[in-house]
Amino acid sequence: MDMIFHQIATDRGCQSYLIGCKETCTALVVDPEISQIERYIALAAKEGLRIHYLLDTHTHADHFSASQTIAGQLGIPVVMHRNSSAPFVDMRVDDGEILIVGHLRLRFMHTPGHTVDSMCVLLPDRVLTGDTLLIGGTGRTDLPTGSPDQLYDSLFNGLMRLSPDLKVFPGHDYKKLGHTTLAREIAENPRLQPKSRSEFVQLMDTLNLNMPQHLTEALRTNLSGGKTVDQLIAEANRKVSFMSMDEVQRRIQSDNPDILLLDVRERETYDKAHLPGAMVIPRGQLELRVNQDLPDPTQRIVVYCELGKISTLAAATLREMGFGRTVALDGGFKAWKEAGYPVEEKSEN
Ligand SMILES: [Fe+2]
Repeated sequence: MDMIFHQIATDRGCQSYLIGCKETCTALVVDPEISQIERYIALAAKEGLRIHYLLDTHTHADHFSASQTIAGQLGIPVVMHRNSSAPFVDMRVDDGEILIVGHLRLRFMHTPGHTVDSMCVLLPDRVLTGDTLLIGGTGRTDLPTGSPDQLYDSLFNGLMRLSPDLKVFPGHDYKKLGHTTLAREIAENPRLQPKSRSEFVQLMDTLNLNMPQHLTEALRTNLSGGKTVDQLIAEANRKVSFMSMDEVQRRIQSDNPDILLLDVRERETYDKAHLPGAMVIPRGQLELRVNQDLPDPTQRIVVYCELGKISTLAAATLREMGFGRTVALDGGFKAWKEAGYPVEEKSEN
């Protein structure tokens, strides 16, 4: 079997996998993450593969799934366990079923416990364990739909009964170990040492883990198919051009600035200090006030905010409304001030 297999990690330790059939040039991506979208597509192209499926091993609470986005771009289905409640899943699968990708056969094993929709993906020499089994650990069971009791069965009566020679490729790897084997985990993984169900459940119930970063945003977007804040900003980024702080400063000082500086922060913040000559329309009022405050749609507008993110959204909105020469400041008021550029401050009297 000629299999192409790539493990792709994010800087936060999330692991995703591009798995392809060399002969038929078909592939799937397992647990794609939003920051790596271009990498999957580029890597598939480099390997001469066309992605046919996206698969999430479970509903992630700590990583932003890219499945829906890539599915939309490529017109291909998203595969998840039938217990997943995400509305954008095209193909729901269950324990014992097989997905055929070219000459590859991927078998699913339902392994609830970390989440109720967790599954492992079996290939002849390896298993992708999602967050069911990690290197030296397991997924946690204290997040929505988690159950230590179910995880016990998934591990002790499921995964641990497979061939110990199988390589294990996890959904997370915080220590950059890459992969392991089932035999090694059975021998060394502290979570696999308990001698009874109750001992295991007690171990899982007393871990006292911190809540993952971005928990609510990850669950919101992964369950609904909605967008993350970073995605919204990245989309706006692709719709506008920018002007450097240096260029803005040069224009402010010139006789004919030819730009209108627009501060989209709250009025109180603007009142304290702002760029010289800037006008203010808080972002929340932008659409309603343009007719009155920005009568000339051919005006060249430079939008800025505090950190340089909201201004991108505001600039994209203005372009959409017909202010075709709107640009965003490359940086925000904070960076402007820190770089020592001039500001107009409210005089104390
Ligand atoms: Fe997870």
